[in-house]
This record gives sequence, C-alpha cells and structure tokens, in this order.
Amino acid sequence: MDERAERERRYERGDDAWPLGSAEWEAAARDALTREAFDYLAGGAGEESTMEANRAAFERWRLAPRMLTGNAERDLSVEVLGTRSPVPFLLAPIGVQGIMHPDGELATADAAAATRVPMVVSSAASRSTEETAARLGEAPWWFQLYWVNDREVAASFVSRAEAAGARAIVLTVDTLTIGFRDRDQRNSAYLPFLEGEGIGQFVSDPVFRSRLSVPPEEDMAAAGMAMVAMFPHLALSWDDLGWLRERTGLPVLLKGILRGDDAVRARDAGAAGVVVSNHGGRQVDGEIAALDALPEVRDALGDAFPVLVDSGVRRASDILKALALGANAVLLGRPYAWGLAAGGSAGVRRVIETLRGELDVVTALCGLRRPTEADRDLLRPV
Ligand code: FNR
Repeated sequence: MDERAERERRYERGDDAWPLGSAEWEAAARDALTREAFDYLAGGAGEESTMEANRAAFERWRLAPRMLTGNAERDLSVEVLGTRSPVPFLLAPIGVQGIMHPDGELATADAAAATRVPMVVSSAASRSTEETAARLGEAPWWFQLYWVNDREVAASFVSRAEAAGARAIVLTVDTLTIGFRDRDQRNSAYLPFLEGEGIGQFVSDPVFRSRLSVPPEEDMAAAGMAMVAMFPHLALSWDDLGWLRERTGLPVLLKGILRGDDAVRARDAGAAGVVVSNHGGRQVDGEIAALDALPEVRDALGDAFPVLVDSGVRRASDILKALALGANAVLLGRPYAWGLAAGGSAGVRRVIETLRGELDVVTALCGLRRPTEADRDLLRPV
C-alpha cells in the first residue's frame, strides 16, 4: 500500500489523531505533498503581505457575546440564491485538486455530497464538471467560470455546467491573468497547467479540443500550453457581462469584488450576487484584506443583495465575524484543501464537520439562535 493510502487508513482507524486547527492541517498537508504542490496551495502573491492582511483583518475584530438569550435551539443553515447549506459556508472553487490528492475534485465532491455543503466546482479543476457532478448526485453545487479569451470555450463551460445541474455561475473577475507568486517563481516558475494538471475541464471540452491540432491524449503538454495561452483575458470589461447573462438562466455571481463602486456596477450589469474576495491573497500583493472590504460593499449594496466573502476564513469565530460585517455566507478555501491533501475525502469531511461543531458552540455562546443573526453590534474593534 502506498504511503498516502496508509496515512488515510491510520486516520480512519483512529491510530492517528486527525489534525485540529488550521496550523495542524496545513502542516499535515505539507507532509503529504510535493514541495511544488504545497507551495502552490499555501502560497500567495509576492511576499504574501495580503495573505497576512487577510488573517490580521479577522484579528482586529473581537466578538462581544450576549448572555442569557435563551437560545437552546439553534439552526446553522443558510440559503443563498435558492441554494441551501446546512452551515453558513460553501466550499470555495479551488482548482488543480489533482496535485493535492489522486482523486482530486471527486474526493471533495464525495465530502460535499455526504455533508450537503455546496461545492463550487472550478474551471481549473483536474476533473471534468460531468464527472464531478455525477459524484455530487442530488447535492447542490455551483460552477466557477474563468472567462478565457476564447468566448466559445467559456460559453461551452457554462452550458455544460448548466446541463450537469449547476445552480449558479460564479464568474471570477480578479484572475484575468495569474498573479505573480514568489513561491512558485522559486520552484522553477511552477505552473501546474503546463504539466497537464488542472486542465480537466479543458481537455473534456469539445470546443477546446477543436482548437488543438493534436488530441490531448497524444500530447498533454501541448494541451496545457494551449490552455495557458487561452487563460489571460484582460480585455474583459463590464460591457461583456450581458453576453454571459444571455447564455444562461442561472444566477451569476461576481467573485473578486473589493470595492463598493464595483459591487454596484456588478449589480447594475445583472449580477445576482458578489463574492468579496482577494483570491486568498494570491493575486495582488499589497491589496486590501477581503474582510476589510466587506462593510463598504455591504453598505453600497444595501441589506437585500446577496454578498459572500472569502480569504482568510479559518475558524468558526471568523465566520461569525464575516456574517456580522454583512456577509450572507462565506466560502471556505484552503482549510478544506489541506483536509483533502492530508486525508482525502474523509479529510475534507473532517474539516467540514469540525468547523460545523465549533460553529454551533460559538453561536450558542454568543447568544445567537442563528449565525445569520450576527450584526455589527456583536463586534468590537481592537
Ligand atoms: C484558489 N482559488 C480559486 N478561485 C477561483 O475562483 N477559481 C479557482 O480555480 C481557484 N483556485 C484556487 C487554487 C488554490 C490552490 C487556492 C488556494 C485558491 C481562490 C479560492 O476560491 C478562494 O478565493 C481562496 O482560497 C480564499 O482564501 P483562503 O481562505 O483559502 O485563504
């Protein structure tokens, strides 16, 4: 049996205690992965000051719990744009899961199906939407779109997602080209796509395949290069969003919004929601923490418009702080990918269930019946 399978068995049998807390999970993932893969997952843009700012932003707020509220009954569930989650988080789109675990997105999908926490399936996945959707079964999921510089490929991704049962499209607008990441630069400018990793959506796509002179099965490196050439699309602008909206009946969310004025533009362009995010600090070193951008975005949009946030969410208290500052739900990012790397599908499940358990305790102790009752008055700045 290989080392990975043996480690997963030891966790499942209880011979080894599962990691607890994000530092332990990250360390377990580091043990399980190659250096390139770990650095790709853990690293951020430049010197990672934005990654640090994401965490620091959560630390600058403290919870001020309310006592004796009689909250014996609690409900952690949320509904965003018609999609229910038993907890106020969804699984963020994380690409290239094949470098984290041989089962990649299928392992994450199994955990999402078991817990009913919605998965956001990435355009940069190692597996195809159709394979992943088959593992998700009846569990709800969304599709994340990278709008590449070939419109017909982007349109094909969207129609495939819709046909496979996606309930929303999350258009990522902060990655029209890939950020400059020091760790990857040091690893011989590591880019998984050039090694044929993270291109599962592309090689399974009939329109993308039609652009190749040789099928990917015969030349994966050429397919990877074609994907990398197709990826950057800095010409994309607000005027293009109408085209996307015409192509799908699904709600479209814009992920990567960090300003109130852009949030209003997104709504005016027909977006059904926004995700306040700096991509986990992977795009612009020195940009604002996502949590710090959240109040401005919420204030610009008013109370009713769906707003999610990610980047730096690690613990239950982070989720309550994000909801208190105006999010309807959060996206959980690296923590579940560490779970995947360290323990496969069972690892992802473990991360989700631990967070759910902690959230119930923290919600109870803060005097809330539902995490969504958290408001700015529950927080104090430090
Ligand atoms: C990402 N993220 C991302 N986002 C997206 O829209 N499409 C994608 O394919 C990916 N891929 C991806 C890979 C890896 C390895 C990471 C770490 C992140 C960004 C992701 O959705 C989310 O915004 C961040 O992970 C949030 O930051 P934290 O909480 O993980 O630090």
